[in-house]
Amino acid sequence: MTSTPTAPAPLLPAPQDGGCPFSPPSVYTDAARTGTVTRATLLDGSSCWLVTGYQEVRTVLSDRRFSADARRPEFPFFVPGRREIAVANPNFLRLDDPEHARLRRMVTGDFLVKRVEAMRPEIQQIVDDAIDRMTASGSTADLVTRYALPVPSLVICLLLGVPYEDRQLFQDLSRVLISSTATTPEVSRAQQELLDYLGGLAAQKRHRPGNDILSRLVARDDLSLREIASTGLLLLVAGHETTANMIALSTLLLLRHPEQAARLADPAAVPGAVEELLRHLTIIHTGLPRLAVEDVELGGTPIRAGDGVVAMLSTANRDEELFGPPGTRPVDELDLDRDARRHLAFGFGVHQCLGQPLARAELQIALETLFRRLPTLRLAGTGAGSSAGTESSAGTGTGTHADTTPAFRTESLISGLRELPVTW
Ligand code: HEM
Repeated sequence: MTSTPTAPAPLLPAPQDGGCPFSPPSVYTDAARTGTVTRATLLDGSSCWLVTGYQEVRTVLSDRRFSADARRPEFPFFVPGRREIAVANPNFLRLDDPEHARLRRMVTGDFLVKRVEAMRPEIQQIVDDAIDRMTASGSTADLVTRYALPVPSLVICLLLGVPYEDRQLFQDLSRVLISSTATTPEVSRAQQELLDYLGGLAAQKRHRPGNDILSRLVARDDLSLREIASTGLLLLVAGHETTANMIALSTLLLLRHPEQAARLADPAAVPGAVEELLRHLTIIHTGLPRLAVEDVELGGTPIRAGDGVVAMLSTANRDEELFGPPGTRPVDELDLDRDARRHLAFGFGVHQCLGQPLARAELQIALETLFRRLPTLRLAGTGAGSSAGTESSAGTGTGTHADTTPAFRTESLISGLRELPVTW
């Protein structure tokens, strides 16, 4: 990247630094206090811009002068060495229009609000079955493996036409793909294995089509098998890891705020509650990388073509003016009655999350049903440390929870939990 920083710039991605694991690391909040656009350094030693302001983040994500094409030589990466993977097998998440739009269009129809609303009974059934299975085998369980992960995994498998019996394979490979500690050869191998798997499935569907996305994609004559496999990979990985982590983290947070969890008993409050959980947790904790392809002025700061930029969703989602007007709790706190609809947890602009109607439906149904059907749900084991349900900071959301919940996925580019032992 170009400009030389004038002062020691913080390193991105920043580790959680002992504060509340639900809040952004202090590196980001400190930067946000300094200005909406500040300098930072990536792990490979290159400089980039850390964009923390709400309006500025929206500009980066919606202005064509910022590219999402990870094949460009100067594109910023959170993990050194990942460029070759993006170059070898691009998917539309990291391409610009018109390539991005051409591929995204092929699957837009499957994620429209209307289509997803029609799936609600099926999602409800999947959720109820998961709870039935969990309760049939005792009164304690790891909520991650028994509920948070199976629900979105099953849903995306149904949609894509991927056999759920193969979940161990694609869940393990997905974990490697979103890990910040896996080596480049490991990620490259995992990506190839998943592409081969999805390419094989798609080829079978050419002869025996089903009512699913992969079958619809292979029936087209304007897509290569490689493009179909890459799109399938993006949907499969994005479609279960994110929502699974949101279900697990939201459950943990709600168990720590029982007075707020009670709001889920009112069906009218559930959609708003989910928006606030999305805002508060902002699980894409590293922010979103982009590359300036023209000179731009952003928040009064000149940015040069060739500069890397990181749009920090978590600080944007704590914009005081937007999310903390008089009468609401401070933006660092969870407030399920807050109007959080303008949050950026799903990104913004042309790459805004394609699966957001599905993610919303899954989260609303999974959380409402869990707290309704298991009213005595509480933390068990390590997560149930004395501070888990009663910590003095429960109302502030800024306390030090890390010691009582050792299962945070610190190695992942997406916030999540390795396990969540619960009892009911
Ligand atoms: C709570 C769960 C989810 C969160 C927080 C989330 C977040 C995001 C974010 C922030 C982006 C923008 C990335 C960027 O601009 O660089 C994105 C893109 C995307 N998401 Fe999600 N996502 C979630 C669930 C899902 C689900 C269930 C699917 C279903 C398949 C999905 C599919 C996608 C796809 C395909 C893209 C790429 C869109 C594009 O580049 O045009 N996501 N997601």
